[in-house]
Amino acid sequence: MIEKINALYKKIEGIQITSLDELELFRLEYLSKKGIISLLFEEFKNIPASDKKQIGKPLNDLKLLAEKIYKENKNKFEEQQISGKTLDYSLPSINNNFGNRHPISIVRKEICDIFEYLGFKIEQGPEIEDDWHVFTALNFPFEHPARDMQDTFFIEKQPDILLRTHTSSVQIRAMEKKQPPLKIIMPGRVFRNEAISARAHCIFHQIEGLYIDKNVSFADLKQTLLHFAKEFFGNDTQIRLRPSFFPFTEPSAEMDVSCSICHGRGCNVCKYTGWLEILGCGMVHPNVLKNTNIDPEVYSGFAFGMGIERITMLKYSIKDLRLFFENDIRFLEQFTF
Ligand code: DAH
Repeated sequence: MIEKINALYKKIEGIQITSLDELELFRLEYLSKKGIISLLFEEFKNIPASDKKQIGKPLNDLKLLAEKIYKENKNKFEEQQISGKTLDYSLPSINNNFGNRHPISIVRKEICDIFEYLGFKIEQGPEIEDDWHVFTALNFPFEHPARDMQDTFFIEKQPDILLRTHTSSVQIRAMEKKQPPLKIIMPGRVFRNEAISARAHCIFHQIEGLYIDKNVSFADLKQTLLHFAKEFFGNDTQIRLRPSFFPFTEPSAEMDVSCSICHGRGCNVCKYTGWLEILGCGMVHPNVLKNTNIDPEVYSGFAFGMGIERITMLKYSIKDLRLFFENDIRFLEQFTF
C-alpha cells in the first residue's frame, strides 16, 4: 500500500491542470467519495494496527496534497474568469459588429493621405455658399450654364445664396484668407440639380487640390498628379493629360489614368480605350489670383478637382452610384479599412 501511496503522491505532485473541466476530473478521480483517496482510506481501516503508523502519515499527506492542488487551481481559474483572462482558443470567435467606414470615406482618406504626405494641408469650407465663391471669383462668365437653375440649387436670389456645386469654392476662401505659399487639399460634399441615376446624383463628393507659390509650373502639376496616380492605382499606372476648358484655369486639362482593370488592353469599364478619366486640372487663371488679391506677376499655381464617387467606383468596380447613398448594410459590409 505504501508504494501505491508514494507513486500517487509523485503523480499528482507534477500534475498540470489547464481547464476547469480537467480540474473537475481531478476532483472526481482523487477527492470524491468514490475517488482513489477515499478508497485508500477504506483500505487503511483494514490494515493491521502495527502498520497504521507507517502508512497513516503518507496517506494523510497525499490527501492534503490533492486538496491543496484542487484549491489552488480552483482559485486560479476563478480569478481568471473574473478578470476575463480565460482564453479558450478552440471557441468560435464572437462576431463584433462594430461597423466599418463608408467606401467614400475610405477612398477620401486614402486620397488625402497621399497628398498630405506631399505637404498638402486639409482645408474645408461651407456647403452653403454665395455666388462670389462658387462662380464669380472663379472667373465664370455671367452667362455660364453652370449658374443656371438647371444645375445649381439656389436657396436665395439676390444676393445669390446657393449650395456649392463644386469644392473649387474652397480655393477662393483659402486664397482670400492667406497669401501664398498655399498647398492645400479640400475634400467636401457638393450639390447639383441632377436627376438621380446610376451615373449621376444630386449630392456627391469632390476633392480639390491647390498649390500656389513662386515659380509653380505645369511640370509640377504633372509630376504631382503622376505621383498620386501611381500611389493610388498602382506603380505601373500611366497618366495622360488632354487639353480641356475650365473658366478658373488656363491652360486646363483633363487627366486620364491607364485602365487598372485591363491594363490598357481594353475592357467595358474603359470602353475599350484603355484610359479612364479621373480629374480636371490646370494652372490657376490670373483672373482668379487677382480676384483674391494675389499678384499673378509674382505667383503662379495649379489646381485640380476630382469626384470621389467616380474614383471609388473605379477602385471597387461599382456600377451604380446610388448604392453609396442607400446605406444597405449588405453593400456597406463589404468594405473594410
Ligand atoms: N470644379 C470642377 C468640376 O466640378 C473640377 C475641377 C477642374 C477643379 C479643374 C479644379 C480644376 O480645381 O483645376 O467639374
